[in-house]
Amino acid sequence: MEDRTILLQATGLAKTFTLHNQGGIRLPVFDALDMAVCAGDCLALVGPSGAGKSSLIRCLYGNYLPQRGSIHVRHREALVDIAAVHPQMIVEIRRHTIGFVSQFLRAIPRVPAIDVVAEPLLARGVDAASARDAAAAVLARLNIPRRLWNLAPATFSGGEQQRVNIARSFVADFPVLLLDEPTASLDPDNRNVVIDMIVEARDRGAGVVGIFHDVEVRRAVATGEVRMNVERDAA
Ligand SMILES: Nc1ncnc2c1ncn2[C@@H]1O[C@H](COP(=O)(O)OP(=O)(O)O)[C@@H](O)[C@H]1O
Ligand SMILES: [Mg+2]
Repeated sequence: MEDRTILLQATGLAKTFTLHNQGGIRLPVFDALDMAVCAGDCLALVGPSGAGKSSLIRCLYGNYLPQRGSIHVRHREALVDIAAVHPQMIVEIRRHTIGFVSQFLRAIPRVPAIDVVAEPLLARGVDAASARDAAAAVLARLNIPRRLWNLAPATFSGGEQQRVNIARSFVADFPVLLLDEPTASLDPDNRNVVIDMIVEARDRGAGVVGIFHDVEVRRAVATGEVRMNVERDAA
């Protein structure tokens, strides 16, 4: 039977930014947003620039606090509300349950690419040799040349940094993956590798939420869509 276990569910979610250093101007981004991601789903967030897609992903990852609503994630068999838990629990959820590919890699100075990629496994207690082997395999799959593995990604090209970023989130089998334009600066060959990796994640029962600018990528990976619009100015 198909597994319809809910892995991530947002209910009645609202996000408004208040610009405290600009006279407290309020920017509503979304309101009353509902979405649910089951095992094997890949929901694409679709809408124009400024619609709040990245903000929603950041709420789902616990980076932004919504003004209203809940974000339940299945973490170690229990449903936990990311919008309400202690920050320490968010660290725990990120270690075991939610992987996030941000639009840009935040390169840690002087840490070699292979260690950047191995880190999520080490954080889960995997031994160093196995973690490095797994990191090497995913770096190779994403066509990062071996000569770069022991260099820090700070000097890498945009596409190379993005692939290190992707490698880091796919090296461990996270039950939930959040992807913010993971293929934006990739050439067609690497884009196809990433498509395969997302489909494989779905096949192993992961729940994916992503922003995919490229319509071909979206068609290849998405099982559903969440439409988002730019909030209209009040009349
Ligand atoms: N940290 C922030 N502080 C204030 N405004 C923000 C912040 N992040 C995003 N916004 C605003 O929220 C709106 C939605 O942005 P974003 O979520 O990046 O949209 P998208 O990813 O769909 O292009 C934009 O108007 C943006 O300026
Ligand atoms: Mg965005």
